[in-house]
Amino acid sequence: ERQKHIRNFSIVAHIDHGKSTLADRILEMTDTIPEREMKNQVLDNMDLERERGITIKLNAVELNYQADDGETYIFHLIDTPGHVDFSYEVSRSLAACEGALLVVDATQGVQAQTLANVDLAIDDDLEIIPVINKIDLPSADVDRVKEEIEEMIGLDASDAALASAKTGLGVHDILEKIVHEIPAPTGDLDAPLKALIFDSVYDNYRGVVLNVRVKEGTIKVGDKIQMMSNNKQYEVTEVGVMSPNAVQRDELEAGDVGYVAASIKNIEETRVGDTVTSAIHPAKEPLKGYRKINPMVYSGMYPVDNAKFNDLREALEKLKLNDAALEFTPETSKALGFGFRVGFLGLLHMDVVQERLERDYDLELIMTAPSVDYHVELTDGTEKVIQNPSEMPDMSTVKEIQEPYVKAQIMVPNDYVGAVMELAQAKRGEFDTMEYLDKYRVNIVYEMPLSEIIFDFFDDLKSRTKGYASLDYEIDGYRTSDLVKMDILLNGDPVDALSFIVHRDFAYQRGKDVVNQLKKTIPRQQFEIPIQATIGNKIVARATVKAYRKNVLAKCYGGDITRKRKLLEKQKAGKKRMKAVGSVEVPQEAFMAILNMN
Ligand code: GTP
Repeated sequence: ERQKHIRNFSIVAHIDHGKSTLADRILEMTDTIPEREMKNQVLDNMDLERERGITIKLNAVELNYQADDGETYIFHLIDTPGHVDFSYEVSRSLAACEGALLVVDATQGVQAQTLANVDLAIDDDLEIIPVINKIDLPSADVDRVKEEIEEMIGLDASDAALASAKTGLGVHDILEKIVHEIPAPTGDLDAPLKALIFDSVYDNYRGVVLNVRVKEGTIKVGDKIQMMSNNKQYEVTEVGVMSPNAVQRDELEAGDVGYVAASIKNIEETRVGDTVTSAIHPAKEPLKGYRKINPMVYSGMYPVDNAKFNDLREALEKLKLNDAALEFTPETSKALGFGFRVGFLGLLHMDVVQERLERDYDLELIMTAPSVDYHVELTDGTEKVIQNPSEMPDMSTVKEIQEPYVKAQIMVPNDYVGAVMELAQAKRGEFDTMEYLDKYRVNIVYEMPLSEIIFDFFDDLKSRTKGYASLDYEIDGYRTSDLVKMDILLNGDPVDALSFIVHRDFAYQRGKDVVNQLKKTIPRQQFEIPIQATIGNKIVARATVKAYRKNVLAKCYGGDITRKRKLLEKQKAGKKRMKAVGSVEVPQEAFMAILNMN
């Protein structure tokens, strides 16, 4: 029977250990993609993913594998991202699988996200097949990596697959292991429908397209379905699988991974993690959904053109469909007008969202510097959560401010322990534990303010350890800190979108740095622009942007029209991302000044 021949699996790995390359080889060796259409990292189909060489969104494909036992198996391979910002995507794909390939780079060994991701797979009771990849490289050390997998993860690695995703060596062995070690899905075909929505996308013609794992029952065109969280009903218009392009099917049954379209026009009615059931014979209990993930970083997002506010709202709603971690609420800024306070998982997530909005939805945005959220207790006993620094109440009414802390796990070769500790301490880190992983490496745990980690900590860490350190962190509650609100005044007026929160010990230096950075980014204008940083009424730093003397065109000779046009064009491009704040034209970079201070 068909179900016995299905294998649903996912690939988990630390970033760059070769997950996407292995997926490419598997697609190739199962003839899912003809060789002439093969391009690198087929599953990374977002332009952004290709350009950056990272996997952001999960992807599911169906492929057929003719195994050595002569039978044909149906594989559903669900790709997952490796970066710490996107680990929530990993847990979503795992819930649709019975097994996972754990890819470990033979030259790097077990890294921070190897552990984080494999833990998710273990929590979901998946069958895990260790794969030691990149064995073609001279510096591969298979024995050491096996030892690490056994010691650090507790998996038997004696029989681990040894592979080179690059050359294809060992990939056949992996395919056979998938057949023999990963269990076939179980699930009653005759039971009422239960399908887990693990992803969804909006399509202008078909409405919301749901990616589902059918756990019980069947689903076909014409069926009346119902969302278990809100009882909304629809009629199925199309079902199918991705292989890797959409292929329509008559039905999906228990064990299958595929897509469902049902003319769902209202985006808000579908939720990733929800269970789809039959409207005629509804199931009693929904499937276990996903843990809700909370954003960690917030930034203001404003259309350069205020008339685009509604377009921005619609675009954010569509993005949220397949990005459950995205959160947004409308806000207004005196300086920037109407926009949204948007919550992200980290700076990479923020960057990706901004780029997707600008590219896919043709929006021009001004973003304010990212900030964490603060829990504030006022002297009158009321409590507030502040996601926008400009909304921090007057300090005279504040009893205490708490900020989010993380437990940061840093894996690094012995030689760099000193460098790591120095950096962590400079970022207000408190040493927690240090543990030897093997002869060569240690795992150092620090408790640190999230606000210090999200900006440039990872880059600093990489450069101080010659790229050897890997980092993972999780929120570890809120703690009281001595924080102050810094306001920035341009031309004497406070600019709400430039306010930020800083630890008192760093306030003076940070104020000076920001003011200098602003001086560099704000172009000269007709008049002099004083820039001031203040805490309460106290000015802690100041600088001045001098007025310009010459018109840009004054430099060119009367007749040189092309040069004149070029200059004007350059000036226009520079203006594009300007926002008039009071009488001052402020460029986008200025709002990010706090991020670019080195
Ligand atoms: P993310 O998608 O960002 O999570 O990374 P990934 O784990 O998918 O890694 P990816 O497949 O993009 O591989 C990272 C780099 O390692 C690429 O430059 C690959 O060409 C290279 N690579 C992958 N597998 C092998 C291998 O077996 N041998 C060698 N020499 N290089 C490999």
